[in-house]
Amino acid sequence: MQTSQKPPKLVRKPPPQDNPFKRIDIALKRNHYQPDALIEILHAAQNTFGYLEADTLAYIAKNLKLPLSRVYGVATFYHLFTLKPGGKHTCVVCLGTACYVKGSQKVLAALEQQTKIQAGETTSDGQISLLTARCIGACGIAPAVVFDGQVAGQVSPAAALVKVEGWETPE
Ligand code: FES
Repeated sequence: MQTSQKPPKLVRKPPPQDNPFKRIDIALKRNHYQPDALIEILHAAQNTFGYLEADTLAYIAKNLKLPLSRVYGVATFYHLFTLKPGGKHTCVVCLGTACYVKGSQKVLAALEQQTKIQAGETTSDGQISLLTARCIGACGIAPAVVFDGQVAGQVSPAAALVKVEGWETPE
């Protein structure tokens, strides 16, 4: 006997919220999940989240089939990476040789004076984290500074201060 009853419609779940690891997945695929790409993947993760959380490191370790200790080792070795939540805005001054020669130390000193924090710290109002890196791969435009994930080249102390002063006023 046939029944005219239609099967119940499947209720589609709403699409999941934007996958927080999407940008990491893209970087993983682009690098064919090669363990050698660890630093590049960590860069992608930090650019996405602003810092590297334990969950993020575990996700990267799993996908690259690397021991978590190795991923932690690399993430803590390079000054560019931070494991702590940063301020609302992040400013990374490159102190690699090319940038140093072009005066990045003066840029950093100006920023430290302006924000009243040292490299590696976050302002007490949580607005700005000031970090340093050894080389961000932009030596041709030294001195380079990364403002909220955007690389800026030939940054003078005055230009860096203008940028950061804009961040100091809470929106
Ligand atoms: S030394 Fe600064 S980008 Fe290479």
